[in-house]
Amino acid sequence: MSEPLQYRVEDGLAIVTLDAPPVNSLGQAMRAALLAALEQALADNAVSAIVLASSQKVFCGGADISEFGTPKAGAEPDLPGLLNTIEAAGKPVIAAINGIALGGGLELALACDYRFAAPGAKVGLPEVNLGLIPGAGGTQRLPRFAGVPKALEMITGGKPIAAKDALEHGIVDAMAGPDQNFAEAARAYARALVTEGAPVRSCDDIDIAADAVPDGLFDDFRAAIAKRTRGYPAPEAGIQAIEAAVGRPFAEGLAREQALFAELGATPQARALQHLFFAERASRKVPGLDPKTPRREINTVGVIGAGTMGGGIAMSFANAGIPVTLVEVSDQALQKGLDRIRDNYDISVKRGKLDEAGRDRCLDLIDGTTEFDDLAHKDLVIEAVFEDLDLKIEVFGKLDRVARAGAILATNTSYQDVDRIAAATNRPRDVIGLHFFSPANIMRLLEVVRAAHTADDVLLTALDLGKRLRKVPVVSGVCHGFIGNRMLEPYGREAARLLLEGATPAQVDGVLTEFGFAMGFFAVMDLAGIDIGWLARQARPEAFEGDPGYAAVSDRLYELGRYGQKTGRGFYIYDGRDRTEDPEVVEIAADIAARLGIERREISDQEIIERCIYPLVDEGAKILAEGIAYRSGDIDLVWVNGYGFPQWRGGPMQYADEIGAATVLEGLERHRKALGDYGERWFQPSELLRELASSDGRFGDIGAKS
Ligand code: NAI
Repeated sequence: MSEPLQYRVEDGLAIVTLDAPPVNSLGQAMRAALLAALEQALADNAVSAIVLASSQKVFCGGADISEFGTPKAGAEPDLPGLLNTIEAAGKPVIAAINGIALGGGLELALACDYRFAAPGAKVGLPEVNLGLIPGAGGTQRLPRFAGVPKALEMITGGKPIAAKDALEHGIVDAMAGPDQNFAEAARAYARALVTEGAPVRSCDDIDIAADAVPDGLFDDFRAAIAKRTRGYPAPEAGIQAIEAAVGRPFAEGLAREQALFAELGATPQARALQHLFFAERASRKVPGLDPKTPRREINTVGVIGAGTMGGGIAMSFANAGIPVTLVEVSDQALQKGLDRIRDNYDISVKRGKLDEAGRDRCLDLIDGTTEFDDLAHKDLVIEAVFEDLDLKIEVFGKLDRVARAGAILATNTSYQDVDRIAAATNRPRDVIGLHFFSPANIMRLLEVVRAAHTADDVLLTALDLGKRLRKVPVVSGVCHGFIGNRMLEPYGREAARLLLEGATPAQVDGVLTEFGFAMGFFAVMDLAGIDIGWLARQARPEAFEGDPGYAAVSDRLYELGRYGQKTGRGFYIYDGRDRTEDPEVVEIAADIAARLGIERREISDQEIIERCIYPLVDEGAKILAEGIAYRSGDIDLVWVNGYGFPQWRGGPMQYADEIGAATVLEGLERHRKALGDYGERWFQPSELLRELASSDGRFGDIGAKS
């Protein structure tokens, strides 16, 4: 292995250049090398000061994630100890922050005596995103330099800040000019410090006096972030760690930080967030495919259908700087679609999320046509017409005649069989599903549906494209509803059935939001439209054969013209977006239950969780066993990024791994027995769940690893 850093002495300065591509992560080898370099510099009388620099674009990306969960992570020299040694060094150490310094990378810089930054550098402590706090002194050093409010913002929010902001807040001491050679400027800065006899500095000597912090500052901050951080313990731990920096000696604060860091590391939330972090990295890898396979070029895109989805998809591409042409059946439909896109951008401008120039740049990238032939030269065409298989087959037949050879032909279908759509062309290798979620310009999830004949390079191109669009692409095999919507069925079925058994929409939704879902099932139905669900059921009567009536309440609301928010009434009554309970829905449910002979009873909150979530998990198990998803992490990404499953629970499969497959199995069995014929029909646990339950196995340990 090559050396992770270079060491040279020049003009009285020891220049220690971190040189471990890609991000100079602080793995054990780097830590040991840093310690050795420090000792060498301290022992060398020719050295007056030490400059920590980087040969990479970044200064330092922090901890080595490949060491996570291994003994190497804490192996000697551990990071907190190393940083304390740097801080205690008798010669000035200067961090030359040329690029981004994140997490342990910023903590390293904070342990130095002086920090000199490039104007384009960024610094941040993003540990909170992994369910942690900085654990190498960051929570104690940052408030000493930046003040308590800035430290609270950075440590609980996790967002990096620009060098200028860091300079204004005392996080860096000086910044190079925009035209200066950074490395030279950093050395000149260090030499100037030596010349003026600048002292070594230690956080031991910096106290944050208790009376310097306004009364109630911490509690006000807590209250301000409470809603956003519900379910996440790390932000609160960050606040407590910073509290320990106030009015107390540095060493005491460090000890408190260590204790909180250790506590957090053992929380299910930290495991969940780290699971999702790794899942996102894994999801773009396809088992058995060479990642070096050359990709197809995507520079021009066509979208067929300028409705809800087509418009949002076009915006996604424009937002990523990729020109896109919308195709519609009539000038009128096209104009409507283009107007809606403009309105959406205008709203973003009004909300301050985009400036006018940005909006105009995006709008310039979107054009429209009613001529199908205009798709002839596109690299990628995405079909987003009505959810009707015959129509899609017809559109793909036409597309096959028009599109250039080698173009990727994609469908945004939610449920239809992508193999049958592909078979409508003479080039099924070029056909793939690209299932965006609504609103497509906002939602991060992109299900990439690999059909039977989809070519390897088409699949890999689609995954790269997902990243270019700043989405989370997840591969799904072909099945009804793919990963996400297929799992939505048992979840929705149980929510609906519980109404018949005696729960109310508000009770079910309340339990689900308490569990951490962004919205409850019925609130989502009212938003999506009860008519849409009804139409979907009509399109697939076979799935509801012998149906014990769980969709009957929805059907009745449909008959009454209560489609949800858009008609002011659905499962709830609406005044704008405010909803109140609708006693008539409860009556409707009671009537239907009486007709179907379903006994009504008090439903416990625990039962609601088990009934809604366990069948969802078990459908995930089937999806995994069938190879529709390659890894449980892929399923989790789908549900967290597309369906509002609480991120801090890591997704349904991670949740199951936390509570144990045996618990899920026991719950399913119990409900199967209690629910008679209904239970026998719907609560048959999968083989995989049984296997894991009996072997104490985890979903996270099966399936593709690469
Ligand atoms: P929509 O009804 O809003 O838009 C469909 C558009 O396609 C209409 O503007 C229509 O004029 C146009 N169209 C119909 N036939 C056409 C043809 N032959 N050539 C060109 N344009 C044609 O429908 P929406 O909601 O945008 O759905 C489109 C597709 O996306 C469906 O397959 C749907 O299942 C899928 N989808 C929908 C989601 C949603 O939440 N609405 C989410 C994910 C996927």
